[in-house]
Amino acid sequence: NWTTASIVDEQVERIRAQIGDGHAICGLSGGVDSAVAAALVQRAIGDRLTCVFVDHGLLRAGERAQVERDFVAATGVKLVTVDASERFLSALAGVTDPEQKRKIIGREFIRVFEQAARDVKAAGDVEFLVQGTLYPDVVESGGGAGTSNIKSHHNVGGLPDDLQFTLVEPLRMLFKDEVRRVGLELGLPETIVHRQPFPGPGLGIRIIGEVTAERLEILRAADAIAREEMSAAELDSDIWQCPVVLLANVRSVGVQGDSRTYGHPVVLRPVSSEDAMTADWARLPYDVLERISTRITNEVADVNRVVLDVTSKPPGTIEWE
Ligand code: XMP
Repeated sequence: NWTTASIVDEQVERIRAQIGDGHAICGLSGGVDSAVAAALVQRAIGDRLTCVFVDHGLLRAGERAQVERDFVAATGVKLVTVDASERFLSALAGVTDPEQKRKIIGREFIRVFEQAARDVKAAGDVEFLVQGTLYPDVVESGGGAGTSNIKSHHNVGGLPDDLQFTLVEPLRMLFKDEVRRVGLELGLPETIVHRQPFPGPGLGIRIIGEVTAERLEILRAADAIAREEMSAAELDSDIWQCPVVLLANVRSVGVQGDSRTYGHPVVLRPVSSEDAMTADWARLPYDVLERISTRITNEVADVNRVVLDVTSKPPGTIEWE
């Protein structure tokens, strides 16, 4: 595609002009924006870019591998992974309030990323920080009016003053669909380029109740099954996203084989949306719902009931917390 190729060329030139022979660091979230921003900068300055991926232990099955294996294979990027799951789990111990969870995860994330940035900076002479800011983000944050704060969203940013970086934002002029085209042009895998939105706080805000290692494992298994079945039915591009939520503080009675069970429900929350500001519950085909339900209750110990969320946004939000 000629226009996409020329966007890539132009951005690569700009990045080279800005960074010169300097060094840059980029936090990868597993999402499209940071991946494409990093791939562009990697194309421009090669291994003078270091990417940092914080594994907070709240990721879905396979997500870390997608970054460590697929993204690295596609770009040749220099990657540092920080395994911080223990740290996040202990910070979240005993916490059930959604906003408190979000604040803790956001705070720990900044701390871990900051330490990693210090380490990288000490090793090289890094003065640039790459961020996957898109055009709509620029407009939204400059707008003033209309900035909602219904839930505190967390993204990397807000690094402390003594860690001074010059920002590199190669996607500032682009919309999401252009970012995806640029990603494909740069050879990123479809699984990354067409990934559905996933919140920064990850599975931590999809467990209603306290977040524990065991509950994360249950939710990860249920979520993987739901995603597998939706992909197999080729529904990925029809739905915006489908959070799977574990009601860890609820139990209901069931029967499996010859015995009574007393397990947890999981909620399927498939939605269709244009921009996540409003959403409608997605009418998934009954046979797909049936396969997801049968497989989850058969394969995931401790889950004996699958329920469907049929609330639009508003009044519901997409995530449950
Ligand atoms: P809600 O639940 O507010 O979600 O209807 C709207 C969209 O935003 C995603 N989401 C987040 N994304 N950090 C993110 O990067 C966050 O803290 C966060 N919280 C929600 C959510 O998955 C949906 O796509």
